[in-house]
Amino acid sequence: DTHEWQQLGQWIEANQRKQLLSVQELTTSIYRPSWHIAPPQGLLNDPNGFIYHQGEYHLFYQLYPFACDHKDKYWAHVTSTDLLNWTTQRIALCPSDWFDSHGVFSGHAVSNGDELMLFYTGNVRIGEQRDRITTQCLATSNDGLHFTKHGPVVDTLPPSVTPHCRDPKIVQHGDHWLMLLGAQHQTVDHQLQGRLAIYRSDDLYHWSYQGLYGDELGQFGYMWECPDLFELNGQLAGIICPQGIKSSSEHYKVPHHNGYIKASLDQDGHLTLGDFTTLDYGFDFYAPQTAETPDGRRLLIGWMGLPDETDQPSCQDGWLHQLTCLRELSWEDGKMFQRPARELQALRGAKKQYNFTEASVNQAIPLDTKSYELRTTMTWPETGQNTIRLMDNGEQYCDIILDSDSQRILLDRSHTHSTDGEQIREITWNTGEDVELQVLADHSSLEIFINNGEYAMTARVFTPEDATCLQLISDRPQLWQDVTLWPLG
Ligand code: FRU
Repeated sequence: DTHEWQQLGQWIEANQRKQLLSVQELTTSIYRPSWHIAPPQGLLNDPNGFIYHQGEYHLFYQLYPFACDHKDKYWAHVTSTDLLNWTTQRIALCPSDWFDSHGVFSGHAVSNGDELMLFYTGNVRIGEQRDRITTQCLATSNDGLHFTKHGPVVDTLPPSVTPHCRDPKIVQHGDHWLMLLGAQHQTVDHQLQGRLAIYRSDDLYHWSYQGLYGDELGQFGYMWECPDLFELNGQLAGIICPQGIKSSSEHYKVPHHNGYIKASLDQDGHLTLGDFTTLDYGFDFYAPQTAETPDGRRLLIGWMGLPDETDQPSCQDGWLHQLTCLRELSWEDGKMFQRPARELQALRGAKKQYNFTEASVNQAIPLDTKSYELRTTMTWPETGQNTIRLMDNGEQYCDIILDSDSQRILLDRSHTHSTDGEQIREITWNTGEDVELQVLADHSSLEIFINNGEYAMTARVFTPEDATCLQLISDRPQLWQDVTLWPLG
């Protein structure tokens, strides 16, 4: 009944106003990023519907606006023409209908002429057991701001798939469209397996089930979330977030992973997957999405957080999590590379050069900012360690350590305000080669790009406001090379 839904809409709006924080409460958080996208209040998770449409970039994100909790999700909406300045728009989609009452879950967008189409998962919970009902839904807009919901376009589950079936990604394939979904397959002997379900459509409104894909990976986690699929320098590549796979690192115990896969699609839309490679080796990276720019580049943005993390210091200020920086993807030597999008260079202030001498190594150097880009090359130590210490006030800091004994690069945030996340991440480094570093810092985050984007490590790092020092630590100071730094704003 339209009237009832209108009333519900009014109730939600009124309620929303009641629970908004004051502007001062919103802006005084010392952890608030100066140039990343973060929620005004409440909990942010996945980026959604990232697309270039009618001269503008649209980006949505999962938001629970009323608390730092994973409750019924909305789609928040920001737009930009330059990928730097983002305008917050009205909430695009509210969990206000029978098909999405417990969350307008993640999905992607399609630019179809004048029309912006949003495909998302409608999440509904019913009964005392809170049983999950899952459908794949559509909403469209002609002005890019006001969306009309069309309800479910896929209202049943694929055979032998549990209600964990979500996060539609739509790709054009010849004269038709494919919808990829992250899916949980239940085998005849009741094992749960992550897989991709594919639906097919000629008109984007009517979808028919085509099949379940990913058997090449065998038992590879109990669920795959947030798939993406795109071409990169001639190579078809997929991204998935598998849950429940085992990490090769003793420090990595959480079930949530991210990575890319070489993929191929035959003429009929049957998908074959290759090996899985981690995309970001840090602590806080999940559910990335990509969009194509008008000049043909592929940009990625991810959630700087993980599903089970809900206790971080910014919660005291009423908000939790943020998105990553935009990253430009390329396919080189059989691997996916990611580098900060070139647009971000416009954030750079005056360049500073730090030339290290024996006297300045092992000394804390104040940078007077927690928002900067840093570039250097670290010499691989023949013995012991070579460390770069960031966000440091003498008591709290985060270290990037080249450790020759274990032949690893370690990212160690154990000396920061504790979060319920893990404290050490690592990359195996057995070539003995020097390590080229590009670090983007923004108050409570570090994004580390290694060897010109061959590896990335992303971390939320909560240190006090005065933790603005940089320190290079080594028992062989002569190893150190110069550091270039730009404040970012
Ligand atoms: C990934 C995810 C998605 C889901 C969304 C709900 O973080 O669990 O699979 O659609 O978050 O907010």
